[in-house]
Amino acid sequence: MNERQGKFFENKSFTDKFVLTPQFAGVGSREVVMTDNTNNKEFWNEYVKYFENKIEEANNDTDAKDKTASDKVYSEYYKKLAVGSEEKLLDFGCGFGRLYPIYKEYTGMCNGYYGIDVSERELELAEKKYTDLKIGKSLFEYDGMSIPFQDDYFDKIICWGVFDACYQEMVIRELLRVLKLNGLLLITGKNNNYFDDDEAAVIAEVNARKKGHPNYFTDVDCLVRQLLEHNASLVEEYYFLRRGDSPKNQAVYKMPEKFYEWTFLIEKTEGYKDFEYQKFSNKFSKHFR
Ligand SMILES: C[S@@+](CC[C@H](N)C(=O)[O-])C[C@H]1O[C@@H](n2cnc3c(N)ncnc32)[C@H](O)[C@@H]1O
Repeated sequence: MNERQGKFFENKSFTDKFVLTPQFAGVGSREVVMTDNTNNKEFWNEYVKYFENKIEEANNDTDAKDKTASDKVYSEYYKKLAVGSEEKLLDFGCGFGRLYPIYKEYTGMCNGYYGIDVSERELELAEKKYTDLKIGKSLFEYDGMSIPFQDDYFDKIICWGVFDACYQEMVIRELLRVLKLNGLLLITGKNNNYFDDDEAAVIAEVNARKKGHPNYFTDVDCLVRQLLEHNASLVEEYYFLRRGDSPKNQAVYKMPEKFYEWTFLIEKTEGYKDFEYQKFSNKFSKHFR
């Protein structure tokens, strides 16, 4: 662990007082002891079964209340990366490898897929489900800090449903380090400024906190400004106004003042150099203070 990475590990557990904006005052408790489970392998190992069920529900039950994106929606976005058969793809936070069959369907060749995850249980499940994936060959355990690949290694990277669980200033830097020049990164996240009346969003935020689920909110404007200043380009941008819009794939394409989730296709363009990001990631959305 170097000095830069070490600073993220100072607070493993902390008490936080939070006050909700008046219309949500009834939703949550005012003081919680929070455990920081970011990069906690045991936490993510426990999450495996829950996540597998959630994806099954998303794929089979169109009326599921708390839906995540189905494989169908996931494929629509994956296609935007246009991964070529000779290219290397990093599936960052690959979980049980649900992208792998989609990758095979659209890419045809199977040698360019690399999945990394902090949970070894997820990787074991991926190996069990897809027998041509192997831990140590195409699947790698990640320490949550340094992506175990050299600079400029991947043509394409996908970070799907993971960024909101990470130390974001560190991870974006690592993702862009291992991405080749002119390579593409498809990344999803949550915005720190969602609508005042998005009750589903605020309930999800409170519940995640109660469960100790890592849950970071991005100051998207601040992230975008820094990316553009350092020669990364936003090739495509999707904004999902309210909680529930992203699984339905209902997006707008210009950054609104308020929104709940975002998906970007980012290109590491000529002139991009590694830099230390100013803080753009928050443990709370703007509905808490
Ligand atoms: C919601 S799942 C998404 C999995 C996969 N990307 C998908 O969409 O099917 C989140 C995944 O991120 C992994 N994860 C959590 N923290 C991580 C971190 N800091 N770096 C990489 N992966 C992480 C978890 O183990 C879990 O597999």
